[in-house]
Amino acid sequence: MSIRFDGRVALVTGAGGGLGRTHALELARRGAKVVVNDLGGAVDGSGASSEAAQKVVDEIRALGGEALANGASVTDEGAVARLVKETHETFGRIDILVNNAGILRDKSFAKMEMSDFQRVLDIHLMGAAKVTRACWPLMREQRYGRIVMTTSPTGLFGNFGQSSYGAAKAGLVGLMHTLKLEGQKDNIHVNTIMPIAATRMTEGLFPPEMIQRFKPEQVTAGLMCLLDEQAPTGLILAAGGGFFATSQVVESGGITLPSEQVTPEAIRDRWAELSDTAGATPFFAVENELKKIIGALGKVS
Ligand code: NAI
Repeated sequence: MSIRFDGRVALVTGAGGGLGRTHALELARRGAKVVVNDLGGAVDGSGASSEAAQKVVDEIRALGGEALANGASVTDEGAVARLVKETHETFGRIDILVNNAGILRDKSFAKMEMSDFQRVLDIHLMGAAKVTRACWPLMREQRYGRIVMTTSPTGLFGNFGQSSYGAAKAGLVGLMHTLKLEGQKDNIHVNTIMPIAATRMTEGLFPPEMIQRFKPEQVTAGLMCLLDEQAPTGLILAAGGGFFATSQVVESGGITLPSEQVTPEAIRDRWAELSDTAGATPFFAVENELKKIIGALGKVS
């Protein structure tokens, strides 16, 4: 059975180009009505123009789809509230939200201006939180929602010169993990996509053979699975060049020391054992980790 979004309304932020554009187009091809949001600035977030969003809306209409352009910045709470209100008034609901808008202000941490660091966090992390917060009551009322955050390998693993971007992208994973729990009873699923794609953001970073191979459309194909009615919740999907995997935070099996033996030296001396990932497990929520710890403590007198 093919994945379809007939009758669904989708909002994609930062959809005037790159990955957001291919996400919006594919959602429309598969039947969704799409709101294409984009501030239309440069990669570093400077400038603004409503043209980028409008162009993608024109592409969707040329395919026979329904779409609406919006030029709000995801950082502007008032404009975000108007965007959500307008979407609701025009299409009657919001089923799907893809938090995709983002910028880069790369610099080594030693040279970093904190105003740049703040701006990157404001757009990626606070922007996604603001748009999600504005959609949340509607999704709860509908008892249906599919939300995707966009992280990056930098957020999970680190990349030289990308401290602000990495902090913001890791923050989005943290946001997902709590929202997946808070959304569960209202059928709101929250997942994260971790893309690698040749776009203007990665221009100059990828050698020519990678540009050919890492097409945004391949990331979009994975994203569709996270937006489907059958979507899981709380997953991070790595997607790039036709490669797909789930990325997880896991904890090693660990060791338990009897209370009277807890000293820094005893911990140091068993470092290899406590950090051995052979028995590593991911947890769905804090309580699962606590259960494991309490179980382990119970076995030590
Ligand atoms: P892109 O630069 O083409 O797309 C980002 C879009 O966000 C732009 O169209 C931009 O105008 C828009 N935007 C920026 N600030 C905004 C704001 N305040 N409000 C509304 N829209 C705003 O780059 P790309 O690669 O398509 O990036 C999309 C997302 O994927 C970003 O979150 C990026 O961090 C993430 N990502 C991309 C990777 C890649 O390999 N291309 C790797 C990992 C993550």
